[in-house]
Amino acid sequence: NLSEDEMKTRIREIKEQFGAKLFIPGHHYQKDEVVEFADATGDSLQLAQICQANEQAEHIVFCGVHFMAETADMLTTDEQTVYLPDMRAGCSMADMANIEQTERAWTKLQEQFGDTIIPLTYVNSTAAIKAFVGRHGGATVTSSNAHTMVEWAMTQKERILFLPDQHLGRNTAVDLGIALDEMAVWDPIHDRFEYDGDLEKVKVILWKGHCSVHENFTVKNVEWVRETYPNMNIIVHPECPYEVVAASDQNGSTKKIIETIEAAAPGTEWAIGTEMNLVNRLIASHPDKKIISLNPYMCPCLTMNRIDLPHLLWSLESIVANERVNVITVDEETTKQSLLALDRMLQRA
Ligand code: 13P
Ligand code: SF4
Repeated sequence: NLSEDEMKTRIREIKEQFGAKLFIPGHHYQKDEVVEFADATGDSLQLAQICQANEQAEHIVFCGVHFMAETADMLTTDEQTVYLPDMRAGCSMADMANIEQTERAWTKLQEQFGDTIIPLTYVNSTAAIKAFVGRHGGATVTSSNAHTMVEWAMTQKERILFLPDQHLGRNTAVDLGIALDEMAVWDPIHDRFEYDGDLEKVKVILWKGHCSVHENFTVKNVEWVRETYPNMNIIVHPECPYEVVAASDQNGSTKKIIETIEAAAPGTEWAIGTEMNLVNRLIASHPDKKIISLNPYMCPCLTMNRIDLPHLLWSLESIVANERVNVITVDEETTKQSLLALDRMLQRA
């Protein structure tokens, strides 16, 4: 039962002991107490690239969620071990597409459309889904490169299956000029389309998944900000529903939101529609700007928040004791196929 200060001291000691052999990547949505010890922070694309480039670290203690740790394992060598400080740090969106549902959907979509579809998956998906996408000629995307990747996919086939976030898929496709009635939602629970138009017109098939954090931003929140603070700029993450993105001034990935706030002039006002830990950190680090959350009752991402100081320390102590706990390993075949999808993205990202 160490105090917070004692835990922090011990974490510093362990970091010093291991030096460059220990690497702690931290996603922007992590708690401050964890970010304080991160060797690098970033969005999901940046963290994947940073892990891939790191050849020195033997132990990678990933402060983020399960799918990110899986990706780190696949992009690093067999000599490098990836740990997740709390195995319960999952992602509800990634859980909305399992491989059985995806295989079933694919069979039905092939019957409907023949060989005209390329699959894309948001990196917020399991390694099994990334492998599926890789072996069918598709690629992963992140919120920072979704435009590039959807544009690329459109040059490959007539139609795209976009997994698992319908909102990122829809928002990106709209930006690229695809009409809303050229998109159909696939419901993986009932194995059917939610669409009453002519299926032949469909260019993008959106998997019916969402982020339970970003779906909490509403058009009412936007209207409230517009009425209460007429000078506020509203910027939201593209995991928010289309209506919210359309009513806002700007949308962009975690990285783009941070860059926009950093570049903004002093005195400007910003309502941000993304995860609360990040919004609070932006508020604290930009006292010269007025920054609020687009939804004042917003919760942080609860699964991201499962990584805290005690779990981080526990994970580090297990490395000191040479016990291999909470190790994230993706099997060889899944890795091989997933890397096809990840590499198609990383070449263009
Ligand atoms: P990015 O890090 O790609 O912006 O994604 C946000 C997110 O929800 C991570 O889980
Ligand atoms: Fe998943 Fe949303 Fe949390 Fe990101 S913010 S890890 S998409 S639940």
